[in-house]
Amino acid sequence: MGKVYLEGQFQPIESAKISVLDRGFLFGDGVYEVIPVYGKKLFRLTEHLQRLENSLAEVRITNPHTRETWATLLTQLIEQNEGEDQSLYLQVTRGIAPRDHHFPDQSTPTLFMMSNPLVGTPETTLQSGIAAVTEIDSRWSRCNIKSINLLANVLHRQHAMDQGAKESILIRDGKVTEGAASNLFIVLQGETITPPKSPHLLPGVTRDLVLELAEQHQLPWREAAIPEQALQQAEEIWVTSSTKEIVPVTTLNQQPVGDGKPGPIALQLHQHLQTFKQQFRSN
Ligand SMILES: Cc1ncc(COP(=O)(O)O)c(C=O)c1O
Repeated sequence: MGKVYLEGQFQPIESAKISVLDRGFLFGDGVYEVIPVYGKKLFRLTEHLQRLENSLAEVRITNPHTRETWATLLTQLIEQNEGEDQSLYLQVTRGIAPRDHHFPDQSTPTLFMMSNPLVGTPETTLQSGIAAVTEIDSRWSRCNIKSINLLANVLHRQHAMDQGAKESILIRDGKVTEGAASNLFIVLQGETITPPKSPHLLPGVTRDLVLELAEQHQLPWREAAIPEQALQQAEEIWVTSSTKEIVPVTTLNQQPVGDGKPGPIALQLHQHLQTFKQQFRSN
């Protein structure tokens, strides 16, 4: 059984306990990251640490570590756990203080980290794609922060599950933002389109990598607002995240997307991503 990290120590998960006064527990006052590990190596570490720094700065929590120390601690976490491929979860909260909304005069951020097996998306799911539903985005207007306060995302995902779908595609002011736990892409007339970064969506590390790969392989792409109606015309829809990579959406609101099968561009980019990961593992 692997170890988790809390209070500056690696320890069994059973012994890791936090105070009920931790502001993460009481207010969801904290931020998090999920970092994939391939062949025991941290994938896109700089990008994840950059986003963590942004999230911490936005909510005014002091970053407990330098980039060098983060890299050391995360590498130790990998060593404390089994498996070549892992999914590292870390969260930083504002720490323990008497319950009151305003920032405490003094508090030490709480850092918790754990490793889970990186399962990825099964081949069968890649071949069939997933069902998704659309829903009005009920989240706040600072979704660029990777906040641990995920109640709206939880309700959106459950809404999808309740309808036999796997992801909820969120609509704000008539435009698509992203999935409940993923970024969104469509293909229209052969061109890959994703919404531009804004406070209405999380700047996904996988999203950026997919755009990098599209550029590298001369697949046309652009960042543009996606009106809700464009989802009906899309030849392809897919969602991305660090743990699931690229997942084709083949049914939207019970209607087939394109011909109802994963599209050629999603599959091509999936292949390019596998090659990219393979090179990363062997470097
Ligand atoms: C709301 C939301 N958008 C997008 C993403 C994808 O981000 P990344 O590719 O960095 O995992 C996630 C990941 O969990 C997410 O929760």
